[in-house]
Amino acid sequence: DDAACDARIRAAKEALGSRCAILGHHYQRDEVFAHADFSGDSLKLSAQAAQSDAEYIVFCGVHFMAEVADILSRDEQTVILPDMAAGCSMADMANLRNVERAWRELSDVLEPDETITPVTYINSAADLKAFCGRHGGIVCTSSNARGVLDWSFSRREKVLFFPDQHLGRNTAYDMGIGLDEMVVWDYDKPMGGLTADQIRNARMILWKGFCSVHQMFHPNHIKKFREEHPQGKVISHPENAFEVCQASDVVGSTETILKTVRASEPGSHWLVGTELNLVNRLHHEMAEKNVKVQFMSPVVCMCSTMFRTDPQHLAWVMENLAEGHVVNQIKVDASEAREAKAALDLMLEITA
Ligand code: 13P
Ligand code: SF4
Repeated sequence: DDAACDARIRAAKEALGSRCAILGHHYQRDEVFAHADFSGDSLKLSAQAAQSDAEYIVFCGVHFMAEVADILSRDEQTVILPDMAAGCSMADMANLRNVERAWRELSDVLEPDETITPVTYINSAADLKAFCGRHGGIVCTSSNARGVLDWSFSRREKVLFFPDQHLGRNTAYDMGIGLDEMVVWDYDKPMGGLTADQIRNARMILWKGFCSVHQMFHPNHIKKFREEHPQGKVISHPENAFEVCQASDVVGSTETILKTVRASEPGSHWLVGTELNLVNRLHHEMAEKNVKVQFMSPVVCMCSTMFRTDPQHLAWVMENLAEGHVVNQIKVDASEAREAKAALDLMLEITA
């Protein structure tokens, strides 16, 4: 049961001591999150992985995060993902084959390597980060997308942004790029379903990807909340649709959401548009400070892949490590890792 599992994780953790660091994303369930030595959004966790001295990094998050940890950590460090099936449906919406095809098709209309910077959201496989590394591109997270796009547009006139159209659209719009200067690349259609003129006139080419969790939030949820609670405030993650972000008071990464709500005055009331585990934890934490935290949707929106990491899997990988066996290691191919690291280092450098 849960108590026994908890004790097994603690015992293995104690046996391993500083040789092992557990990183936990904010969307992890409570029973797992409680064991994290470090928590954060994707950017903070990447930096944490790069700085860690631990021999083993156990990543309670999803596959692309563990890949980033492996790419940024030293050769002698080992990264472990407790459940190998913890992927990200958004990351899966772009793959090397369809991104390379897009790049080829774009070259029928213009010289992509001179006119377009490929920008991949960190929620993507390592080979796509390597693609960006090869083509003068870069990686971004939800907390540095603005700085990364500023950098990109200072070099080339256009950006191909994948996999999340919403983060791309929301960020570009904030920079003053009009919706009429953005097009959506439908990777299931030849030429992304676009005409040559549409491509030539666009500044932002947005991949047709989205997050299945955040797509559940709707501007009507915000409208209803504002009618019932005129003094209330709304905070949303930039993976939400444009209309949701436009109707929100604050838009930011998971770390920004936590910081903003934690800094609010007693008596505040927040409607929060992001994953349920984060919101539930924040709700309980802030209740003591007389700040009300409410989940945006009337239905349960959990990230089912984040949820895959359960105490049983964590106990299993930790006990194996304590006995000297590495299970569920995430290891990115060396040449791919080198190119991906170039794009990640650039991101860490320009947004430091
Ligand atoms: P951040 O924690 O970086 O805001 O990202 C949220 C997310 O969806 C991770 O997959
Ligand atoms: Fe992927 Fe969305 Fe889950 Fe984040 S919340 S890991 S973007 S499916």
